Amino acid sequence: MNLIDGKKIASDIVDELTQKVSAIDGNKPCIAFIRVGEDPASVSYVKSKNRTAEKIGITPLLFTFDNTISQEELFAKVDALNEDPSVNGILIQSPLPSHLNEQDAFNRIDPNKDVDGFHVVNAGRVVQEDPDGFVSCTPAGIIEICKREGIKLEGKHVVVLGRSLIVGKTFSLLAMQKGAHANATVTVCHSRTRNLKEITRQADVLVAAIGRPEMVTGDMIKEGAVVIDVGINRVEDASRKRGYKLVGDVNFDEAALIASKITPVPGGVGPMTVAILMKNTVKAYALQNA
Ligand code: GUN
Repeated sequence: MNLIDGKKIASDIVDELTQKVSAIDGNKPCIAFIRVGEDPASVSYVKSKNRTAEKIGITPLLFTFDNTISQEELFAKVDALNEDPSVNGILIQSPLPSHLNEQDAFNRIDPNKDVDGFHVVNAGRVVQEDPDGFVSCTPAGIIEICKREGIKLEGKHVVVLGRSLIVGKTFSLLAMQKGAHANATVTVCHSRTRNLKEITRQADVLVAAIGRPEMVTGDMIKEGAVVIDVGINRVEDASRKRGYKLVGDVNFDEAALIASKITPVPGGVGPMTVAILMKNTVKAYALQNA
């Protein structure tokens, strides 16, 4: 079994971006983060994105709001950032409180500043295989892992567990695109799929993005398959200082005995998401200054 070091791959991308940004004269790329409320995971994610932006030389702007913010107030902020030519990328951290419609908020962002790739226009651009679109960061990060690890998808049976727009659905579209690093035969499974194990056991590449701790067990994996674990689940663990530990959607110890390559949690797909967000921000800057 070969462990895929997502942290190292992400760090290589951050180094490449740092070089690219340092070569820019004048105004550097700029990303604005909007966070609503104090959800601990969101606070931690935004902090990590902010830190990585700074490291690269991308200017981060952070706007935080109380849980009580109205849709009008949130939209007014997004509109102002859309209009501001010094801001190249805008990210609204999910989840938003339940009185706000998340997709409406994402759709309010100028699609050319939508570095998360959550705007309806960018979802359409993925379907149309438009290279100037923004692809959401986690699925793009998985394709990047495959590129850099020499995992060829062409002609392979890729089985995706999960149909979320942010991961499962978008990754399945990327894997079936025409062209290098794609051309896979894709099956998407979800909560209503029958005979799940029969399908997952056919996977040359198995991508788990269902948000259920350690649901994928060893008997669901074909000998020698590549296993990509997108899950980041907090499970109680009194022996840890924080009172919880992070586990993926895959039972790592079982899968590691069977897979040819596997991403760990943490340190697999997670760090890639932040690296691709930064890559998208530099791309947005380039497109806006072309
Ligand atoms: N919440 C969890 N993951 C993400 C992400 O990739 N982007 C945003 N905006 N919110 C998230």
